[in-house]
Amino acid sequence: MVRSDISGIFPFISEDEVFLLSKEASRAHELLESGSGAGGEYAGWVRLPEKTDTGELERILTAAERIKKSSDTLVVIGIGGSYLGARAAIELLNSPEHNLVKKDAPTVIFAGNNLSGSYLKRMLDFAYDRDFSVNVISKSGTTTEPAVAFRFFRELLVEKYGAAGARERIFATTDRSHGALRKMADGAGYETFAVPEDIGGRYSVLTAVGLLPIAAAGIDIKRILKGARLEREALSERSEKNDAWRYAMARQALYRSGKKIEILACFEPEFRYMAEWWKQLFGESEGKNGKGLFPASVEYTADLHSMGQYVQDGERLLLETFVSFDSKDELKMPGDGKNLDGLNYLTGRSLSDINRAALKATKEAHIKGGVPCIELSTGEINEETFGALVYFFEFACGLSGYMGGVNPFDQPGVEEYKRNMFRLLGKPGF
Ligand code: PA5
Repeated sequence: MVRSDISGIFPFISEDEVFLLSKEASRAHELLESGSGAGGEYAGWVRLPEKTDTGELERILTAAERIKKSSDTLVVIGIGGSYLGARAAIELLNSPEHNLVKKDAPTVIFAGNNLSGSYLKRMLDFAYDRDFSVNVISKSGTTTEPAVAFRFFRELLVEKYGAAGARERIFATTDRSHGALRKMADGAGYETFAVPEDIGGRYSVLTAVGLLPIAAAGIDIKRILKGARLEREALSERSEKNDAWRYAMARQALYRSGKKIEILACFEPEFRYMAEWWKQLFGESEGKNGKGLFPASVEYTADLHSMGQYVQDGERLLLETFVSFDSKDELKMPGDGKNLDGLNYLTGRSLSDINRAALKATKEAHIKGGVPCIELSTGEINEETFGALVYFFEFACGLSGYMGGVNPFDQPGVEEYKRNMFRLLGKPGF
């Protein structure tokens, strides 16, 4: 379960200012549960943890086994909400070095999340000598970046395995009935998984969008779903005790008091893509109509040596949210008779202890430097924690979006660059 400690914001804002927002949080909670708020037709993720489709889940697990048996590499093609959640899970639960350390699961590479020719060429060259499968993921089925990458990988698959072999190695996750990818997949006979109509991209990690690549990477997706289910139960509380309310109220109160940027900070490097996923979730959900906290992230302690100066002492626009985990790391500092490095004062201390001290020290320093701090703690890093964190952030984001007066489920601003790009490239109709 995710716990929010908001005591680190009270040097900057009164408890009254925060808890006055509980009426708004309550209204927002009702809008999410009833699906009657703006964009409510995309609030299907709210009840997702309690209505797992077991048939679909078994099909995902079977497909993941097929991928593992036939392939030493899985190419995940998708952008935004169609890949960040899977990458976040694989890095958090296996390792950012998944491809180096995980010997009993395929190497996972990601494509279709940019338009760089050199990146795509590197991925194609990598896959060329390997036995690979492709999971192409696009809810709309029309997004340019994954469509471009898919065309190249499809061609490579056909060249290597022939049309029939390629068909066996392509798994398409897309809308049930709309879009070019659905048409193509049905026409070619690829195995397909449907993204539920009422769940938008950045809220879709607990559907086949995230679950198939995560399962193929050897991660127990049933435990992830269990974590999300338990978190949903915990967040059914409709009072100030609800940890998602507290997080959403703290963010909104600070935003209204003039803070403009929220930094998500973690002391575990494997959290990096979870932070990328979080940035999309909050940025696309809240950044509209000239409003919204700008979501940024740092990876400590590394970034204390690059961004630490600004956070401590730069313009006071920031609030900081720490995500902390209980560490199961058993590494203990060895003693050294000569003590030339002067580290003997740490002898026998575990690295997790030292890292925890760094977190406490950083939080204390940043509060002193004028940065309101929130801490979200979750227990050890494991599948259940991941599921819980995903659901917690999604729920808090929905609450906060409604409290901020926006539709947290659309992203109209994303179309602007696309129109320009299509015009510049001469796409018919632009
Ligand atoms: O949250 C969203 O809906 C978007 O950010 C999408 O995830 C992203 O644009 C990819 O879209 P699609 O899955 O349709 O290719």
